[in-house]
This record gives sequence, C-alpha cells and structure tokens, in this order.
Amino acid sequence: MCGVVGYVGRSQAAPVILEGLKCLEYRGYDSAGLAVLEQGSVEIRRSAGKISALEALVGKNPLRGTLGVGHTRWATHGRPSEVNAHPHSDCSREIVVVHNGIIENYPALKERLLREGHAFGSETDTEVISHLIESHLRQFSQTQGALSTAVVEPLFFEAVRRALKELRGSYALGILWTKTPHLLLGARFLSPLVVGLGEGESFLTSDVAAFLSYSRKAVFLEDGDIAVLSGGDCRFFDLDGKKRERKTISIHWDRTMAEKSGYRHFMLKEIFEQPQTIEDTFRGRLFPLKESFLQTEIGMPPEVLAGIKRVRLVACGSAFHAGMVGKYLLEHFAKTPCEVEIASEFRYRALNLEPGSLVVAVSQSGETADTLAAVRSAKNSGVPTLGICNSAQSSLTRMTDFTLLTRCGPEIGVASTKTFTGQLAALYVFTLHFALAKGAIGEAEALGLVNELLQAPGLAREGLKLSDAVLEIAKTFFKKDHFLYLGRHLNYPVALEGALKLKEISYIHAEGYAAGEMKHGPIALIDEEMPVVAIATASRVYEKMLSNLQEARSRGGKIIALLSEGDASSRETADFRLVLPRCPEFMSPLVNVMPLQLLAYHIAALRGCDVDQPRNLAKSVTVE
Ligand code: AGP
Repeated sequence: MCGVVGYVGRSQAAPVILEGLKCLEYRGYDSAGLAVLEQGSVEIRRSAGKISALEALVGKNPLRGTLGVGHTRWATHGRPSEVNAHPHSDCSREIVVVHNGIIENYPALKERLLREGHAFGSETDTEVISHLIESHLRQFSQTQGALSTAVVEPLFFEAVRRALKELRGSYALGILWTKTPHLLLGARFLSPLVVGLGEGESFLTSDVAAFLSYSRKAVFLEDGDIAVLSGGDCRFFDLDGKKRERKTISIHWDRTMAEKSGYRHFMLKEIFEQPQTIEDTFRGRLFPLKESFLQTEIGMPPEVLAGIKRVRLVACGSAFHAGMVGKYLLEHFAKTPCEVEIASEFRYRALNLEPGSLVVAVSQSGETADTLAAVRSAKNSGVPTLGICNSAQSSLTRMTDFTLLTRCGPEIGVASTKTFTGQLAALYVFTLHFALAKGAIGEAEALGLVNELLQAPGLAREGLKLSDAVLEIAKTFFKKDHFLYLGRHLNYPVALEGALKLKEISYIHAEGYAAGEMKHGPIALIDEEMPVVAIATASRVYEKMLSNLQEARSRGGKIIALLSEGDASSRETADFRLVLPRCPEFMSPLVNVMPLQLLAYHIAALRGCDVDQPRNLAKSVTVE
C-alpha cells in the first residue's frame, strides 16, 4: 500500500504535494519522492525514510513548477531506498510515473523493454510503466515524425492508454510528460484513486485526506478509468478511449476522519481492509503457478530447497498464532515435519537444529527483539532462515536468507488484524509452492487449492458482514470479566488469536484453549458469568466441537458459536450464532478470525477503551 499525490494548477506544486504526502503517511513511509515540471524539464527529488527526510531535501534544493506528482512508499518490489523510491521515469527522463499497486507481469514486460534497449535504474515493478509509455511514444514518432504541439496531448493519452492495456495486476497511477506541461494523467485498476477539483487546479490522490485542505469536491475513479486533469478541469475515459461520466461528490470528513476513511478507529478500518490486503498478498503469487517461485520470489535456490526436511516456525503473539496455522498447513500439504515455537522460548532451547531444518520467522514489524534473537540463534546453528514480514526495510528482512513480504501496508492499530491474516496468506502461498516443489502435491491438486484460495477475499468480505450481529452480542457481554475461547485443529490458533485480541484492547481476561482440553481443567471455570466463544464451523472436528458446546452449555455457560452456513445443529446448541460462509476447512482460519476481531473491537469500544493504542502495549516489542 503506497500513497500517490498529483497536482496541476496555478500554485507551486511542491508544497501541495508534500502536504498531501504527509496526509498519506499512514499508507506507507519507507521512502518518498516527488517530481515537478517547470519550463519543459522535470526535477525529481527522492529519499529513503519518512516524508520529513524528503521535505528536508526539497528545502535544501527547492523545486519550482505548477505540475507535479509525489509518492510515499511501502515497498513490495525492491528494498526501500532512494533508487527504488518513486517517481520513476523513462530513459529520456521526460515521462514520470508514481504508482500504488502491483504489476504482476512486470518481469516479462521488463525483459521485452530491455531487449528494445531501455535502461532501468530500479528494482521496482513500477518503472516498467514509464518505459512502456516511452516505447509507444517512440512508435508514434517513428510513424509520424516530429510531434507537433497540436498532437502531443492526444498522443500522450494514446500511449498511456496502450501501455495500461498491457499491464496485469493493480495500479493507481499519476503520470506526467514534459511535452504536455498542463496535463496530468491518472489511471486506476484495483487500487484507489480520487480526483479533487479546485478553482483552476486539480488533485490526484490515493485518498481524499491529501487534498481536503484545498477542496471538498471529489470524483472517485472506477477500475479501468483514465483521468485527464488540466487546471480545474478533469475528463474521464475507459481503456478503449471512450468518454466516461463520473459523479462529483462533496466530502464532509475532516482530515483525521479521512485518514481513517470515515471509520471510528484505525483498527476497524484495518479489519475491513483485510479482503484487499489478503488479495494483495496473494496477487501474482498463486496463478499462474511458477515452478521457480521460491527462487524468484523469496530467493531460495533449488539446492537449498532440496535439502529442507523439516521446518521450525518462530514468532511472538499474533504472529505465533499465524505460525501455528502454518504448522498444520505444512504438515498436511507439504508432508513436512514442522514445529512452531514462541520465539522467546526458542532461543533457550538446546537447539540441536538438525541439518535440513528451515527456520521461518513470522513478524509484521520485523523488529520484535525475541524473534530477531531466535533468528540469530538459528543462523548461528547454520540453518537457512526465511522471514515472513510486512516491512521490507526491517531488521528481520535484512537478517534472514530469504524473505516473503506480506502486502498489508502500515498497520496503525497496535492490535494485529490485517497483518495477522496477511501472515496467514503468506503461509498459504509458501506452503503451496513448497509442497509443489517437494512433490508432496501434484499440479492438479495445487491448482485446486489455488482456485479455493482465490475465493478468500470474497469469503472474508462475507465474514465482515457479521459486524452488526457481532455488535449486538458485544452489547450483551461487554461488561463481563472473563471469556473462554475454544477451537480445535486449524482453529485452535484462531481461538488463541480471538482471546488475545479481546484481552489486549478491552483488558478483559480471556483464555484461548484447545477445545479438547476443556475437560482437563477449564470446564471448572464455566458458569453464567463467563461467556464461551466456540469455533464450530464445518470441519473434520465439527461433531467434537458440538459436544464441547453442549458440555459448556450444560454447566450454565453462555455460548457464542461460530457456525457455517447451513449448520443443522439445533438452536439449543448455542445462545448466540454467528453464521459464516462455507469455505474449505484449510482456509477457515482466514474467515473465522474476522468475527473474533470484530467482537474484540466492539466490546473494547463499548468499554471506552483506547482501541488503537491500548494501555501498556507497543506496535513493535523491540525489547526482550
Ligand atoms: C498482536 O495484536 C500484538 N500486537 C502482538 O502480540 C504482536 O503480534 C507481537 O508483538 C508480534 O509482533 P510482530 O509481528 O511485529 O513480530
């Protein structure tokens, strides 16, 4: 997730863009840049680090001009660095592009453009867009000779249009060309982009927050739209060049509300972002199934892969719960022995890491001290390490031999929600390719799993529709002091995660337990005063879960049950039923965690807790 800002109008573009980027810092901040056009030449400033570093750079070396684009980055391809920071330009440095999204077919496009003689300066997928536009403009020059001013604008549009039609993946783009100094082009497919309309000026941004101090008139682009901005005017076209009508709406949010997209808390916004972040983490990694995936995407050479006989996952907190799901997946699909360890314990073990072990560290921040210490222990034992992380520039990704990034963008809420399901998504991706590469599953089975995984964003969207029903349940129980969460098999970690969410943001004591363990102690706790949240969705352990519900209910426990559509259990089984869409059992953690996140959120909000910044917690625990 990155932030895009474009401006064309009468004011100096640089300060408008910088201010806009600061409003988008919540979308990414590992590097930033801007480009401004003045008298036919474009000046670009870029820097690693936060936008304040870019602001200082521009202060030292100001930019003048009334047309420009800017970008704040959350790296998905290529490490965060000045070289990989946007904007990116073509060979002539006349076409400049900023991009939020993922171009899935960039390797093939880059290869073709390199063959055509284009020179690339970055590791990013984005840079292929500027060279692709340049390639089409070159073809026009070859057929039409020198481009007269009368034709440059339509030709620029046509070159961009043709380039867009070659892209596969997602994009929100701001594009400018030195030969069209009054024109700013925008384009959207699967990544948000909105136009702000002012007096004699217009804005192109990822989020209305970036132009609210100048205008409250917004036009939201739809997938496939191309926007042509000039002064205060904006026209819209489809990818075939046909005009499109788009409605202008008035925005009544203030800037903070806009950054939260109108949600009351960042955590709630991030819960609802999960269908998109799951889709983004899957994008380009499931289909087509590339045999070389593990080598090209995470950097694991075939000889290392061939030597892996067992996996050890290490993590803390929510990431540990994700690792527990990963254990089930790797054992089942990859037929690989797998252990999952709390990082703070792992490092004290007499490791005896056998040759052939792969240590997989899971961490959204990549800065968790215990997890980093565990990776150091693993490296000292001489085994290969893989980091599953949400932050490309983190200590973890610099330490591990291989990296698989989740693509959730920054998570502002301290409680992990979208990064938890992002970690699950990354573990599904890794397991699938690892199992295929090890011959544990065949291509046909793998494709079957891909088809099911591609349903995940839609299933997550269905799960989130339970928010109102969950709020009603929260109103019944938000004053309770104790909760018990029960799950089995793949959903035992989900029960732990649901309990963790509740305790960390509402401060209610909540225990997650393997449902089969209930009779070995916790059942003594159950009474009217302790609600029991049970995950009893369709699975091989469904019947056993029903028995657990009846045992708890018969002791006076109030049961909140997660069930699957079409569940035939009697209404007597549970006091409150949250019915989720049916999904393949192996994917159920991705869907079942949603109502548990919402339950924790609504209870905490009803209790007046500081949902985004709960007491005593930190977003990244960098101390042991
Ligand atoms: C989860 O909601 C907590 N914020 C915490 O348990 C977190 O998952 C844990 O500290 C690990 O953080 P990491 O993913 O950044 O390593």
